[in-house]
Formats: sequence, structure tokens, C-alpha cells
Amino acid sequence: MASGLHGLPARVRLVEVGPRDGLQNEPQYVPANVKVELVNRLSRAGFANIESASFVSPRWVPQMADGAAVMRDIERRPATVYSALTPNMQGFEAALQAGAGEVVIFGAASEAFSQRNINCSIEESIQRFLPVSKAAKASGLRLRASVSCAMGCPIQGDVPVRAVSDVVARFADLGCDEIDIADTIGVGTPRHVQAVMEAATKAFRLEGIAGHFHDTYGQALANILASLEAGIGIFHSSVAGLGGCPYAKGATGNVASEDVLYMLHGLGIETGIDLDRVVDAGAYISEAIGRENASRVGRALLTRRGDSLDTVGCR
Ligand code: HMG
Ligand code: MG
Repeated sequence: MASGLHGLPARVRLVEVGPRDGLQNEPQYVPANVKVELVNRLSRAGFANIESASFVSPRWVPQMADGAAVMRDIERRPATVYSALTPNMQGFEAALQAGAGEVVIFGAASEAFSQRNINCSIEESIQRFLPVSKAAKASGLRLRASVSCAMGCPIQGDVPVRAVSDVVARFADLGCDEIDIADTIGVGTPRHVQAVMEAATKAFRLEGIAGHFHDTYGQALANILASLEAGIGIFHSSVAGLGGCPYAKGATGNVASEDVLYMLHGLGIETGIDLDRVVDAGAYISEAIGRENASRVGRALLTRRGDSLDTVGCR
């Protein structure tokens, strides 16, 4: 990756996770056609990777039960990879049939969270992921893995850096193309994040490590900047700051895509994504589900647009 201003990466790949991580936590059912419209708007905005569905037990996460319909009805843009979460072979088969371009296995650096989220120990989860990883390779699908609770756990509390790098090493052995370091409950602070990223990049190649930050404690943008300084070039974000985690009480959404884009573009880092279109997508989904837009940049730009319409006498 070429070095840009102040040694930061010149280009960043942003993975939009709002349609999955964001909507999975909405209390009221979001119809499939709204999910489809959201994914379409995001792909038109230029995201090269959109986490669009989750093939998990509908009893555990009812909001994601319509993943097959969403994957069937979205407009497929050739430059976009549409990903789906797959905790086991049952999920993998469904994702394959639905035409996912990338499957995501998801484990944790905390035993307690692994039990709560996927009902098994870390070791058992690796054994479950083994056939999924082989099947993904055999089917020519990209394989991504997510490590939850990398900065702290809602049940266990502190999570040692070593626990994160141990799981990253296990995922590396499974042949993953990409590994996400996830701050599920948003507790990380910049120097801690750098220590975790440095340990992760000893266990897996730097270019394949992604940062997935929830913004519960308002640290996500600072943690992304700290990760950029550590050479990380892939980040996850959620349009309008949608989301949370059904098994991490009180966790708020992922950092808002609009906020990350504004910061990256301000740093002179290319993303290939049109911020204005993402702001439109954020306004669309916030209105469709009756939720306040949690993106500071989204709200500021929408207000500015309103003000300029007033100034030229359009309203
Ligand atoms: P289990 O109960 O141990 O599984 O759950 P099981 O194999 O014993 O099956 C029990 C039932 O679930 C059976 O149905 C299966 O058919 C069904 P029944 O016979 O009782 O009617 N089942 C499935 N149905 C649909 N799709 C499947 C599937 N697998 C089993 N793939 C399991 C284990 C992993 C399935 C369950 O714990 C589960 O679905 N967990 C999902 C939890 C989840 O989705 N969490 C949110 C996503 S992770 C996240 O948000 C974190 C992340 O953003 C990073 C971060 O921020 O930390 C990625
Ligand atoms: Mg998450």
C-alpha cells in the first residue's frame, strides 16, 4: 500500500456494514424491500464491499431472517462484493445459494462472548469454521473472519492482547483472505488499539487486517486514525451510524460511514466513495425506520443543504 500524507495509507477500503450489523439490532422489523433499497443506494455510492445479509438462526436474530430475499433482489454491481455472515455450514450453504461473494465467519477473543453470541467455546467455533473455510475456498468465495471483543468484553471485561492475536493466528491457519479486529462495545482507546493492531499484524499480513469499531464511547474516529498510523487500510462503518449488537447490551452502532468518509477525505485519503450519496442513503434509512440519524457529518451536511435551499428561496 502506497504511503500518503504523514505516512498514512494513500487509499482506504471502507466496508459498509449497515445493512447487516446496523439493521440486525433494530427493534422493529425492517422489510426486505427497505434493506434492498439501502444496499442499492450504498453500492451506487461506490462501496466496493457491502455486508448485506446474515445466515444465522432466525431464533437468535429474527431481523436477519430474510437474507435470501435481500440477496435475491439487490441490484448486483460488478465492482461490489456482497458479503454474508455464516456461523456454520448451514449458513454457508444458504449464503452460497444466495450468491454471496464473500462469507464471514465470526468468533471472539473472549470465551464468555463466544458462548453468548454463537453458543460454543472459541475452540469449538474454530472446529465449526473449518468446513466453512474449506467450502468457501472450494467454491471460489472470499473468506473473511471477524474477531469480536478485541478491545474488551461486555461480560468478561478486559481482554488480553495475546487472546486477540491467538485467535487471529487460528483464523490465518483457516486460510482467511481478511480478518477484522472488532471493538464490539467501543471501549478501545487509541494506544490500546495500536497495540492490538500491531499484535494482529504479527499473526496475519497487514494488508488483510481490518478495523471494525463500534462508537459506544465516542472513540471510533480516534481509533481509526490510530489504526491508520499503524498501517491499517481497511475499515468497517455503518451508514447513519446504524446498529449495535444483540448480545452486547448497550453497544451502540458502528462508527458512521459519513463521519469516516469526511475524516478520510479531509486527510487526503482516497476511498472511491461519493460522500453526498452516502448522506442521501443515511437520510433514506433513518426516515424509513424512524430512527434519528446518528451521523454527525450526515446531520451537518443535511442541515447545510436545507440552509442553502432557504438562502436561494427554494423553500
Ligand atoms: P445453536 O442453537 O447452538 O445451533 O446456535 P444448532 O446447530 O444446535 O441449531 C439450533 C437451531 O438453529 C436449529 O433449528 C438449526 O436448524 C438452526 P431447530 O431445529 O431448533 O428449528 N440453525 C440455523 N438456522 C439458520 N441458519 C443457520 C443456522 N444454524 C443453526 N446458519 C448458532 C448456534 C451459531 C446458529 C446461533 O448461536 C446463532 O445463530 N448465532 C448468531 C448470532 C449473531 O448473528 N450475532 C450477531 C452477529 S455477530 C456480530 O454482530 C459481531 C460483529 O459485528 C463484530 C463485532 O462487532 O464484534 C461481526
Ligand atoms: Mg459489529
